[in-house]
Amino acid sequence: MTLHGTVHLHPAHRVGPVRRRTFGSFVEHMARCVYTGIFEPGHPSADADGFRQDVLELTGELGVSSVRYPGGNFVSGYRWEDGVGPAEQRPRRPDLAWHSTETNAFGLDEFMAWAEKAGVEPMYAVNLGTRGVQEALDVLEYANAPVGTELADRRAANGHPEPYGIRMWCLGNEMDGPWQIGHRPAEDYARLAAETARAMRRTGSELELVACGSSHSSMPTFGAWEQAVLEACYDDIDMLSAHVYYRGEEGDAASYLASAVDMESYIEAVVATSDHVRATLKRDKRLQISFDEWNVTNPDGDTGEEPGGDDWPEAPRFAESTYTAQDAVVVGSLLISLLRHTDRVASASQAQLVNVLGPIRTTPGGPAWRQTIFHPFAMTSRHASGQVLRTAIDSPTIDTAKHGTATLLDAVATWDEDAGRLTVFAVNRSPDQALDLVVPLGGFGDLELLDASILHEDDPHAVNTADDPDAVVPRPHDGAAVTPDGLTAPLPPISWAMFRLQTRK
Ligand code: AHR
Repeated sequence: MTLHGTVHLHPAHRVGPVRRRTFGSFVEHMARCVYTGIFEPGHPSADADGFRQDVLELTGELGVSSVRYPGGNFVSGYRWEDGVGPAEQRPRRPDLAWHSTETNAFGLDEFMAWAEKAGVEPMYAVNLGTRGVQEALDVLEYANAPVGTELADRRAANGHPEPYGIRMWCLGNEMDGPWQIGHRPAEDYARLAAETARAMRRTGSELELVACGSSHSSMPTFGAWEQAVLEACYDDIDMLSAHVYYRGEEGDAASYLASAVDMESYIEAVVATSDHVRATLKRDKRLQISFDEWNVTNPDGDTGEEPGGDDWPEAPRFAESTYTAQDAVVVGSLLISLLRHTDRVASASQAQLVNVLGPIRTTPGGPAWRQTIFHPFAMTSRHASGQVLRTAIDSPTIDTAKHGTATLLDAVATWDEDAGRLTVFAVNRSPDQALDLVVPLGGFGDLELLDASILHEDDPHAVNTADDPDAVVPRPHDGAAVTPDGLTAPLPPISWAMFRLQTRK
């Protein structure tokens, strides 16, 4: 028996505008994300700055809007000033977060040059692990102050007289996590974050500040941490962060495919906590979420081990998930959830951009290629436009071991009224059952199907490699049609699809 799922929507029922910042990414000094990822002097494709052009081109194709830098766990032991000035004078340091040696060949000025070439907005994290208010003010002065004070003049002397004008700043990273250098109780972090935020605001720089929420919704302090941070920082910040990584487990594809159910309840819990604090403080302002680390991981494909013992390598090879077709379907599904919450998720960063859990993978001295998860990100970023529409999903469900009951079908749609374009993103989260999708189109006028693409492989474990980089790619979905019932399309199990419809001229 064929299953059916229906997506009900209407052009007047809107969540909010598609935000470009939903399509952010993350570059950390971790493993091979920076070194031999975006930066590899001497690589055949490297430009005069040492930036790999092949990675820059793929970053553009991926549709990345903003990039968080320099960490991650790395930032909690980082001295930003090590990474500026003449390269030959920069110190080598032990990176205690990743048990590596940091050469500091790449730092803030290189990152800003790279961000400009990549056409992305920078998001900079300050160290609130081993450092505090003064060092946050120092890096802010170096980055954003007009020349005429010491650190701004140092930036100018380093070749950058114009202030960078970085707007988005993260007040530390995952400070709730016991693994974090400088980890501290919620009240201590909250006070430090509030003091740092107030001091940074005094500079008059136009800032959007992000305080640390929890590292994951399964943290024992989840909820209480958010409340404490919000009570202390509500007036001083714009966003609270959320982080999550999902991984598949042998024999439980159903839970993995339903990961977005968990992401949604995470978002809704943070929104509820934030609005509760807003009510108790009697404020008008509503805080937003910066989902500044999210992704899937696939340790099956990992090459290399995290260093330890006496080994302190430079840019070691680890955390290089090799992603499957199934992983790509889950990423597409998570993007559906982020878009659906566009009213409260103001910014998001897939972690990370290249090599470390990245949609882009490189070989040192060799090629760069698109991992499977590259495709749903690139297509959603390129084609989501206008307003995100509310969807009511009518679908068979599945009971999962980890995330309770999930609809097999999930979907979101964007409506670009000016262009007369409706774009529907849909996922079939069933591990083994096909589903017929119907999207009634009443209210949209006369729409025709522009194109339809589907990401599905008979072998959900199929991967892209340097030798076969296009094994898993979205393909035209020939079964899609606009009929009197609306948009219809068969969705095989473990599939993600995109449909673009256009008002007939
Ligand atoms: O993205 C990898 C790491 O995961 C980050 O450094 C940290 O913030 C998170 O735990």
